[in-house]
Amino acid sequence: MDDVRQGLKIAHISDLHFGQIQNRGLVVALFEDLSRFDLDLIVVSGDHTQRSRDREWKLARSFLKSLKPPLLAVQGNHDIPPYWEPINRLLYSQARFDQYLGDFVREQCVLGGIAFLGVDSTDPRKTTGGTIDSKSLVERMKRLLSESSVSKIVVCLHHPLYDYSCKQAPGFVADYHQLVSKLSLNGCSMVLHGHLHRSLISVEKTAYGSIHHVCAGTATSSRSRETHLPWQSYNVISFRQNEVEIEQRGYNPDLKCFDSYDMFISTW
Ligand SMILES: [Fe+2]
Repeated sequence: MDDVRQGLKIAHISDLHFGQIQNRGLVVALFEDLSRFDLDLIVVSGDHTQRSRDREWKLARSFLKSLKPPLLAVQGNHDIPPYWEPINRLLYSQARFDQYLGDFVREQCVLGGIAFLGVDSTDPRKTTGGTIDSKSLVERMKRLLSESSVSKIVVCLHHPLYDYSCKQAPGFVADYHQLVSKLSLNGCSMVLHGHLHRSLISVEKTAYGSIHHVCAGTATSSRSRETHLPWQSYNVISFRQNEVEIEQRGYNPDLKCFDSYDMFISTW
C-alpha cells in the first residue's frame, strides 16, 4: 500500500516497558491484535524498557522483531542508561537503542506522500523530561519537503509537545508556540508520542493549518495512568486523502484480548 488515496494504516504503540510488564499474556494479546490488521507501518514511541537493562532490551528486541510490518522507533527516557551509570548516560545515551534495535527499525520513512519522522526527544541531563532540537528538526522537515513527494509530515517522538491538561506544561519546550508554528509551517500535521501512559487526542489550530497531537497509552506495562479501563491501549490510525481515523484499542482483562473502545475521525 503506497497511496494515501487508497488508504494507509499504521499502528502506534508506546511505553511497552519490558521489565515492568503487567503480565505476559498482554504481550501475546498485543502481538495477536496487531496481526489482525494489514498495517503499512508500526510506530513505537519509546520506553521500550523499564531501566535500560540488557535483559529488558533482549525482550523488547525479540517482541519488536517478531512483528511483520516495518517499524519506526524512537527511544524514551527509560531507554537511556540510568543516572547511576553517568558516563554511559551522558556520552552513550543512544548506544543500547542502537545495539538492540538499530539493525531493523527505521528513523524515518515515506508512505503515500506522508513522511513519518522519528525524533529523539530524550535528554540525559534531565530525570524524566526531554529536549527538542527544533533547529535540526525543522531542517530535516525542509529537506523532506524539498527532496521527495512529501506533502505532510508526522513527527514521532517520546515526549509530548502539547499540554493536554492546560495545567501542567510539558516543561521541555522553551517556546512552545513558536515551535508549533514552525512545525505547522513546514508540513507537520500530526505528532505521535507517548510518555503520559494515557490515550489522548487533541487537534490544535495553528496559523498554517492544524496539528493532531496523539498520545498512545502504555500498551503492556503496569504503569498505566488511566483512571478508567482499559489500562493498556494503543492506536490504529487510518489515513485517507483528507481524513484521518484513529481507533483506540484497549486491553480487556476479562476477555484477555485487545478490542476497539473509541474512534476519532477528523479532517486533516
Ligand atoms: Fe513510559
